[in-house]
Amino acid sequence: MTQPHGDAVARVREAEGTSFEPGEGAQSLVLTGIGELHDGTGREPLYGAALVVEGGTVVWVGPESGLPEASGALRRDVGGRAVIPGFVDSHTHLVFAGDRAGEWEKRMAGQPYAAGGIANTVHATRAASTARLAANVERLAREAVAGGTTTIEIKSGYGLDVDNEKRIVEIASSLTSEVTFLGAHVVAPEFAGRSDDYVDLVCGRMLDACRPTARWVDVFCERGAFDADQARAVLVAGREAGLGLRLHANQLGHGPGAALAAELGAASVDHCSFLAPSDVDALASSSTVVTLLPAADFSTRSAYPDARRLIDAGIRIALASDCNPGSSYTTSMAFVIALAVRELRLTVAEAVTAATSGGADALLRDDIGRIAAGKKADVVVLEAPSASWIAYRPGVPLISAVMRGGRLVAGAWPSHPQ
Ligand code: NIG
Ligand code: FE
Repeated sequence: MTQPHGDAVARVREAEGTSFEPGEGAQSLVLTGIGELHDGTGREPLYGAALVVEGGTVVWVGPESGLPEASGALRRDVGGRAVIPGFVDSHTHLVFAGDRAGEWEKRMAGQPYAAGGIANTVHATRAASTARLAANVERLAREAVAGGTTTIEIKSGYGLDVDNEKRIVEIASSLTSEVTFLGAHVVAPEFAGRSDDYVDLVCGRMLDACRPTARWVDVFCERGAFDADQARAVLVAGREAGLGLRLHANQLGHGPGAALAAELGAASVDHCSFLAPSDVDALASSSTVVTLLPAADFSTRSAYPDARRLIDAGIRIALASDCNPGSSYTTSMAFVIALAVRELRLTVAEAVTAATSGGADALLRDDIGRIAAGKKADVVVLEAPSASWIAYRPGVPLISAVMRGGRLVAGAWPSHPQ
């Protein structure tokens, strides 16, 4: 490592509103006047609802007529607006330098997406100072929070050597505990033609350097990245190091990744645009969540996954942004929901559920993604009377207030009726 990174990491930690971990000072709060409340489970919404928060946790939710006495609590009337759980964005690659707008323009002009562009971001990321990387991730995190995201997973994968992967997971860990080691994103350029040697490095010294900081290990199992044997080696090594398993798979074509995820009991397998019937069967009899990333399909002009087929097979789905400079440069979960409704043919309730409790399930978290007594008070007040407006008014910021762990972290409490 060429630069000490402590200062930059501390700066990110201190930055108001960008840490995704609970802060001090959560107060008791009663929210009333909720026009429509989606609790994140997919159940019918509650109309005319209220909720009570104490010490950063929801302690009561129900019809306003049944609101218990809560003396001393701050009361906020949201004026008929809709309320949903904060988004759980369970798949991002936020730590990087540079952009790939040129590559994107070529794609829009007809060039297909391939994993090769990742090397450009690796080059820029290696060359960037830690302060620069930290400032970039801080900017993106602030953007995500303002868009209603209250939990975020962040992957490494643009370092691809021991020091840079370590530096990236450490920067990510200053923002979230959901840190994923993705040393197996693509083969590092200096290992071209020696992919097995690179896998040995990933499973050995690179994993050793990242395991104290990461919770998850991920691998891009795809033509142009890693084959099934290599992916298995990385995941087994990660599991032995105490990390949970995730995969990027079946994004660009049919392949072995989805079946491998089911076989190894990965928490999540992500993308899944190309699934054989046997993949769907294997996933349906596993506990693996399928995380769909329609913003990546949008920005790479690729086929969208068949979400209805997954739902019909009883497979749990999540929606995430996949924010990265190559295939999906957006932090907007609202945009993801709009795409899921328009292109994946989910109902609004299914899309909101997949973007909240679906993401929580993909991260094996039962404390977030739902509005219910005992869950973390991560709550979004929409500048809209109904959650359907997220998809009905695409591209329009519709976030009124974002509360995380009982604290207002973006927007403001509404001061007038909707
Ligand atoms: O999830 N598929 C692999 N990784 C990213 C893309 C990364 C990039 O193009 O920089 C994804 O789409
Ligand atoms: Fe990704």
